[in-house]
Amino acid sequence: MSPTSDLEAVASHPHAITDPKRVPAQRYYSAEFARLEKEKLWPHVWQVACRLEDIPETGDYIEYEINNESVLVVRESEDSIKAYYNACRHRATALGNGAGTFHGGQIVCPYHGWRWNLDGSNSYVYASQRGFTPACLDKENLRLRECQVGTWGGMVFINMDPQAPPLEQYLGGIKKVLDPIGFDRMRVRWWRHVILPCNWKMAQEAFLEAYHVMQAHPSLAMGAADDDYDLDAFAGDFECFDEGHAHMRPSTSGELPVKGMTKAEYFVQYNNALYFGTDAFTTEREMFIQQGLLDKDIPDDEFPAKFFEALYEYAQGAGIPLPPPVTNTTGYGHIFPNLTFLPGYGTNIIYRSRPNGDDPENCVFEVWAVQIPGAEAGEPERPEREGPIPVDQWPQIFQEDFQNVIGQQKGVRGSGVDDLMMSGPYEAMIINSHRTIDRHLGGK
Ligand code: FES
Ligand SMILES: [Fe+2]
Repeated sequence: MSPTSDLEAVASHPHAITDPKRVPAQRYYSAEFARLEKEKLWPHVWQVACRLEDIPETGDYIEYEINNESVLVVRESEDSIKAYYNACRHRATALGNGAGTFHGGQIVCPYHGWRWNLDGSNSYVYASQRGFTPACLDKENLRLRECQVGTWGGMVFINMDPQAPPLEQYLGGIKKVLDPIGFDRMRVRWWRHVILPCNWKMAQEAFLEAYHVMQAHPSLAMGAADDDYDLDAFAGDFECFDEGHAHMRPSTSGELPVKGMTKAEYFVQYNNALYFGTDAFTTEREMFIQQGLLDKDIPDDEFPAKFFEALYEYAQGAGIPLPPPVTNTTGYGHIFPNLTFLPGYGTNIIYRSRPNGDDPENCVFEVWAVQIPGAEAGEPERPEREGPIPVDQWPQIFQEDFQNVIGQQKGVRGSGVDDLMMSGPYEAMIINSHRTIDRHLGGK
């Protein structure tokens, strides 16, 4: 399906897209538009609330916040996870903050000591007989209110809409693209966040296209500019799905994006740029293998193939269940509304962008570095979220992206633009995402 050809103009809400190549600027700063998203988008979509590793043991919980909602994701048992609105049924006190464990299988309100079992049923009301009417004490009335929960790929998704179709149906076509990547085998290496002074969509969109690489990331473009950098040799075509998800297939041209470089030079420099720029896409494991090959006299053209050979040999020895190379599946992609991923060598960089409270010009942007561990690794620690980390303390490549979206937010709310122009071939994932937002906001 083309991301733009069947766009239905939805004029029923403010700042709707009527021309698929133009995104109205107000969508990034209007309080009215943010309010519509809060009412019609966020409560009805499946969104990643946490990773399974965040709640490894029965009773473990982690808090997920979106707009003014706080939801506690709780491990009820080895094979059951629940998500509860974080409010006591007595006088609304939050039952958990951040992350922790409900010991003894009891969720206890810190204010007057009411309690719940991990399945959300109430187990105790202090001085209940004299204190409350039978209607108040009705079992159903006392239950913690809950969200739907689904799991996929090592992640826990929630949906606040009890009528929403199941997660599997929601993921639709993108699931088939992502399943071979082995998300479910990956574990967190690091998890960091930043508060960015821009709309949540704007932050995300820096990771939904490769069109900016030539100008914004000199280390990834090897310093080549304009006609010396062949974007079509770097980025392939986009596959967009009705649910708003999309991904980019890697280019199959066999050409290198940068003229005048050998295959080995490009491959090694690209890995280096992403190792020193992220320590997530390329990690120490691949750098070790790459160095081993560089010490040998391998013909330039054969270097990438030899690298993969050595990588899979190493993985076999270390008991690392590596998936097939991602070059056969996807370059990067998007799970609507707010998760983006960049797969590497049994690694992945996962981004989550969401509004920071109700401010349309502020967002929480998180990055997880995940990797398939070796057989001897054992169960990792519960991941700790670092930050907020100031923009200038992130690795260079992230700083380049963050500075761009901060600058973009500055421009978008002024009089210099009415709308943002989109490239059909290169910015298709952004268009697809906006089109899906409009479907939610227009009630379609
Ligand atoms: S507010 Fe929770 S027990 Fe009173
Ligand atoms: Fe970027």
